[in-house]
Amino acid sequence: MRSLIDILDFSVEELDELIGVANDIIANPEAYSEKCKGKKLATLFFEPSTRTRLSFEAAMLELGGSVLGFSEANSSSAAKGESVADTAKTISCYADIIAMRHPKEGAPLVASQNASIPVINAGDGGHNHPTQTLADLLTIQREKGGFNNLTVGFCGDLKFGRTVHSLITALSRYEGINVVLISPDELKLPSYVKKDILAKNNIPYKQTTDLESVMPELDILYMTRVQRERFFNEEDYLRLKDSYILEPRKLKNAKPDLCIMHPLPRVNEISVAVDDDPRACYFKQVLNGKYIRMALILKLLEEAKR
Ligand code: NCD
Repeated sequence: MRSLIDILDFSVEELDELIGVANDIIANPEAYSEKCKGKKLATLFFEPSTRTRLSFEAAMLELGGSVLGFSEANSSSAAKGESVADTAKTISCYADIIAMRHPKEGAPLVASQNASIPVINAGDGGHNHPTQTLADLLTIQREKGGFNNLTVGFCGDLKFGRTVHSLITALSRYEGINVVLISPDELKLPSYVKKDILAKNNIPYKQTTDLESVMPELDILYMTRVQRERFFNEEDYLRLKDSYILEPRKLKNAKPDLCIMHPLPRVNEISVAVDDDPRACYFKQVLNGKYIRMALILKLLEEAKR
């Protein structure tokens, strides 16, 4: 059974195909409005979410399917001690496809090993978030025309930011990618991502604490929220939370075609004054997230038939 747990589960060709379908849906939404008639998506969210869960649900509804699920761990039998494996087996009796978010790294993988329907990782702890990466890739493709020869700056919480880990992994398969890692020392990219992804694929990268000094080089600036829920103590969070605040004046030396991204939610990292800058792409990411999830649901349900 084909699932999406890690972005590398899909080949570059398959990602191109998904992006192609998403672009076709954007151009021609009516053609897709009944494609999933009679099919059910279960959203199993053991952690808070606005965009990811609702974009999955909107995606399935726009495909003519229906949705069921829960949005809090304590409203499910997890609160009674049920295992992820048993939950996955149970939901397989009710739905055709699962989107799961869980605070434990690897939980969606365990679900996929026990479900008899496709499982989509909608974020597992501080590890991965492959469907945000799909939304990011569709946005980059639409804004930049492709993925080669881009200098991409990641700024903020690179340690716990799962969207960062998954997007870096995805970009490591393209040509001419340069990565600039901008974070406080305490929130640097984990060494396993540096070693297993960046170094292994010979992706040039540098680390800095200073956003403004690298701004002129960037084609893409990917801002992130400091992930409060992954901190061990509140003092560290309070000290680090406002490390970077993107304001219009800091964009003075940025490229005129810089693409400013953020998976959202934002707290303070991007001042609302930046929203009016034509280079701000984060609300486009939100919309693209729905279309690419429509393409993903179609692909996995199609493969499940085989
Ligand atoms: C991200 C996540 O959940 O990792 N949000 C999202 O899905 N768009 C980013 C975040 O919470 O900071």
